[in-house]
Amino acid sequence: MLKQIFSFSLIATSIIVFTSCEHQPPVKISITPVDTTGNGGNTGRKCSPDTVYFNEILPIIVSNCAGAGCHDAATKADGVQLTDYATIRSRVNNGLNSKLFREINSGSMPPTGRLSQDIIDKIKKWITQGAKNNYCSSVCDSTKYTYSADISKIIATNCISCHNSGTVLLNSHSNVQTFALNGRLMGALKHLPGYQPMPNSTNFLSDCELKKIQKWIDNGAPNN
Ligand code: HEC
Repeated sequence: MLKQIFSFSLIATSIIVFTSCEHQPPVKISITPVDTTGNGGNTGRKCSPDTVYFNEILPIIVSNCAGAGCHDAATKADGVQLTDYATIRSRVNNGLNSKLFREINSGSMPPTGRLSQDIIDKIKKWITQGAKNNYCSSVCDSTKYTYSADISKIIATNCISCHNSGTVLLNSHSNVQTFALNGRLMGALKHLPGYQPMPNSTNFLSDCELKKIQKWIDNGAPNN
């Protein structure tokens, strides 16, 4: 019964949320990183190619679903918050039958368009493997910081869903370099006064990712 009331309320409010997400471009997103130390509080585990780890899933969900006005902590559109392990895990209790996965798989969420099949397959695999709060250490190695292999990937994973258009374009090396060299990139990522905090006002990219970006900028933000 409770379940029925709950899913009814989800359906009933989803239209409103859908509309508000479409018409109010998100200003901020809410990321609670797996960790800020680079190991998630877990013993750093080598990546197995057969496993999908939560530190791959979190940025996908946050950058696509937890924009301001949507499933961020402040809005909780539909009563649904998707900003960290606990809030995401609680939405996949029914595995692939969970509303969260069904909506992603059908393309009804996010409202901006169906995620790529690769990404959907990744989420599917993470769920079928038990939706664990697991961490894979080779996902971020702060000693590697080339634009092509590292920086562009961090941006593709965490930022491009919002920064592929608009005034802050982060869709090419020269565009990213502009914001790297004028200080706005690190200003936003470090939440310095006077900058719009990214990814949101309370959370940061992982320390490892911030280190990579800082080192790349210190080297002149080259197209390497
Ligand atoms: C959910 C959408 C969203 C995501 C994800 C997002 N941003 Fe933003 N960001 C915005 C919006 C909206 C602004 C305000 C400027 C604009 O409208 O383009 C902004 C502003 C910025 C600015 C300018 C800050 C300033 O005050 O000068 C930078 C730099 C920036 N973002 C970098 C990033 C980076 C790097 C990431 C990834 C770690 C990221 N953003 C993720 C929506 C987002």
